[in-house]
Amino acid sequence: MLLHLDASARRTSFSRELSRAYADAWRAAHPGEGYVYRDLAADPVPHITEAWTELCDHVLRHEITDISRYGEAVSTPAQNEAWQTLKPLLDEVVAADVVLIGTPMYNYSIPSSLKAWLDQITFPKMSLRGRRFVVTSARGGAYGPGTVREPMDYQERYLRDFFKGHFDVEDVTFISTELANALIDPRLSHLREQHEESRRAALKEASK
Ligand SMILES: Cc1cc2nc3c(=O)[nH]c(=O)nc-3n(C[C@H](O)[C@H](O)[C@H](O)COP(=O)(O)O)c2cc1C
Repeated sequence: MLLHLDASARRTSFSRELSRAYADAWRAAHPGEGYVYRDLAADPVPHITEAWTELCDHVLRHEITDISRYGEAVSTPAQNEAWQTLKPLLDEVVAADVVLIGTPMYNYSIPSSLKAWLDQITFPKMSLRGRRFVVTSARGGAYGPGTVREPMDYQERYLRDFFKGHFDVEDVTFISTELANALIDPRLSHLREQHEESRRAALKEASK
């Protein structure tokens, strides 16, 4: 199953364009293997609550690493409410073979809509091993190797470290469109062709 998430606040967006291209290609190559779509910007998941942290503490204290046992942590109405919110989100990730995330870079990192989703589904010492994560991203600037802004890329580095540290997943692919701001910022207009080139290359890679 392919779980496809988008997180851009824009409806017409480069990260959405890329994730759609990837999803279309994947679905054509894997007919009948299942597809679930979630728009985290249009239909945001709530922030975690105090009751959520109680579930998390229970899982840690009782050394529960089997995701299918997390429901055992529920003992109050508030905890049940937190559980009913997170369970469908977690079930989708567990059922997925590939988790596809279309995300913009916001303020050198990820949008809070995506962070809220990560907070909901992440528990201590969990493993999502065996799944592949694909991130299609868009940025206003350029963050590739050797660029001045390379050290400020807390989007790709954060997600790679997160998937490895919290999910034990290293099968992660990033496909990015860069320099999107060249279309908006008059001072960057000389970089428009570079942006177009980056967009074309990313679309080609996503559509493979
Ligand atoms: C709230 C906000 C914060 C942004 N922060 C950055 C940033 O820190 N660095 C950057 O290169 N571009 C930044 N941008 C530009 C976006 O990354 C760029 O517009 C990108 O195309 C957004 O992805 P999308 O096209 O999928 O919406 C920001 C845009 C917005 C709206």
